Amino acid sequence: MPRIIQMLNEKAFVRFNNWLASDDHHVNPVFIGEFNHPIAGHTEAFCKLYNPLEKGLINEIVGYLITYAIGLKQPEYAFLSVLPKERLNEISKLEKSSTYKWIREKKSVICFCTSRLDGHSAAFHLKPPITEEAITGIADDVSKWNEYGASIALDENIAHVDRHFNNLLRLGKQSYALIDNGRLINEKSESWNLSMLNSKQLYNNKILQAINLRKCNKPATDDIITKAVLSAEMHTEKIKPIESEVTFWLNTLLPEIENDGFKKFLMDRTKDTPWLLKQRFKVI
Ligand SMILES: Nc1ncnc2c1ncn2[C@@H]1O[C@H](COP(=O)(O)OP(=O)(O)OP(=O)(O)O)[C@@H](O)[C@H]1O
Ligand SMILES: [Mg+2]
Repeated sequence: MPRIIQMLNEKAFVRFNNWLASDDHHVNPVFIGEFNHPIAGHTEAFCKLYNPLEKGLINEIVGYLITYAIGLKQPEYAFLSVLPKERLNEISKLEKSSTYKWIREKKSVICFCTSRLDGHSAAFHLKPPITEEAITGIADDVSKWNEYGASIALDENIAHVDRHFNNLLRLGKQSYALIDNGRLINEKSESWNLSMLNSKQLYNNKILQAINLRKCNKPATDDIITKAVLSAEMHTEKIKPIESEVTFWLNTLLPEIENDGFKKFLMDRTKDTPWLLKQRFKVI
């Protein structure tokens, strides 16, 4: 069976379109490019450059695969692309910044790419200044989304600590897709180390906070709690088909000691997500 996340070489890269403007508030360099994907065919994709020695890339891969296994809406295709620097316009400007100095030593860069979804970042489809009323409006809409409970359960499982409203693409009324799994475990940066992995910890589940941002008396409705816990109870079964691919990527991208520790963390959390959620919702 072909891998869900394929590795595309330079030949599959059709063209560079543009860098995303930094006023979109994204942290990593992101560009839009066109590719010939072996399954999807001609594909427009959002591509994010990652330092392979940091954890952002493995976070993205694990997050995408687990979201896929659970069956939540996200970009249809995700793939890696290794591109010679000269194929990316104005990369020299980027390299000048100290944040991206790691690019200077490389001939090629590795990108995590997701096929374009038609939607707007949930927060920034609104024109600034963003009022409190607008935020409560988004929070209310997000909390009525059918997959909201299941998304809380997903983020609890993978310790996603960065699902702010811009990491949801709004597809329509009460309808969203999940993007950007670059930050797991550690809120402050894409990197984590073994001492930060605690399968029993309640990491900052930002998407859950949408409940509290609503203008609503009840903090978490029974319906949302029930949907989150029921979804979590199916994680172990649903994740089985992608386990071997997760193992492949962990072996490829992490040193052995971190690989074992992260694998155990992911397996323990998958098993314990119902318990973690019940702790959070104080129902046990
Ligand atoms: N597959 C996609 N389809 C449509 N838009 C996308 C897609 N992927 C990313 N985007 C847009 O690009 C923006 C930046 O992408 P992404 O969130 O992955 O990068 P980031 O730099 O890590 O962001 P952050 O500020 O959360 O760190 C998103 O907020 C979204 O507007
Ligand atoms: Mg983002």
